[in-house]
Amino acid sequence: MDSSLTGITTTGTPHLGNYVGAIKPAIQLSKKFKSYLFLADYHSLIKVNDPDAVKESSMKIAATWLACGLDSKNSLFYRQSKVPQILELNWILSCMAPKGLLNRAHAYKAAVDLNKENKNDEDFGISHGLFSYPVLMSADILMFNPKYVPVGKDQKQHLEITRDIADKFNKTYKNFFQLPEPIIDESLDLLTGTDGRKMSKSYNNSIDLFSSEKILQKSINKIKTDSKEPGEKKETKDSIIFQYFNHFSDEEEINEITKEFEEGIGWGDAKKKLFTKINQEISPLRDKYFDLINNPKLIEDTLEAGETKARDEANKNLEKIKEKIGI
Ligand code: TRP
Repeated sequence: MDSSLTGITTTGTPHLGNYVGAIKPAIQLSKKFKSYLFLADYHSLIKVNDPDAVKESSMKIAATWLACGLDSKNSLFYRQSKVPQILELNWILSCMAPKGLLNRAHAYKAAVDLNKENKNDEDFGISHGLFSYPVLMSADILMFNPKYVPVGKDQKQHLEITRDIADKFNKTYKNFFQLPEPIIDESLDLLTGTDGRKMSKSYNNSIDLFSSEKILQKSINKIKTDSKEPGEKKETKDSIIFQYFNHFSDEEEINEITKEFEEGIGWGDAKKKLFTKINQEISPLRDKYFDLINNPKLIEDTLEAGETKARDEANKNLEKIKEKIGI
């Protein structure tokens, strides 16, 4: 069976856009492939230096994925930090990673450009971790030699760097790694924020996946619409409300709502209906999520089971890699 691998950053709180664009498709994919899904907690140190926040975020994100239906029996679900072999591979690969290639990585370049703009020293505030982020990511991936790596389009360059590093290793030590293929969903930013911009915490236009019913209702009420009155025909194209319906409904329901738009459903009623629809899907997941959050031992045990398997596989792969390089 082909395998797929993806990392989940452990910062922030997942929003509805993450659910529709990343969590749901990854869980779907995990039914088709042997799946490696891990919490990229070491990557989070680049952004977050508060130990409590790092810990809490990992638990919350793990609980989110489990509540959303990730079957930890069919997939390997683990924390990156619990598979130390990844860090050994990180060093080996960093010796295969041309510095010039890393100089061109978007995140690093953006930080340098910002410093130039602000007339700071080019490297002001930039850690070596930020600079070498793509190497750790290639170690995450190549540790398990997956065929596919589903990622958002912002990660495309990281996958190219991973392939370059793997290729260099293959040329230096004779073929070893299969070059992982990215699966990039071009429509990943599936849900627009409530104000019509990209959904993002920093714009204050996102809807937390597991906010209370009351807050969910309130956020949906905030969604921007045009000023058409009840009774006037509504356009589905470019309507944020319709876009949300689209992602939470089956075909029959979409036909029904399309018809209601044509017949001039009032925005207030449409929003009520949308809330009911989304809440129907999220409500059981929300309950599971809070059960898990209140039972951290269960989360811990689930992760540990995945980590034991992941370490076992990683060890075997690392031994082969070390043999190749003469260590
Ligand atoms: N950098 C990825 C992101 O920000 C997360 C990540 C870390 C990852 N390691 C990975 C994704 C390996 C895929 C494969 O979303």
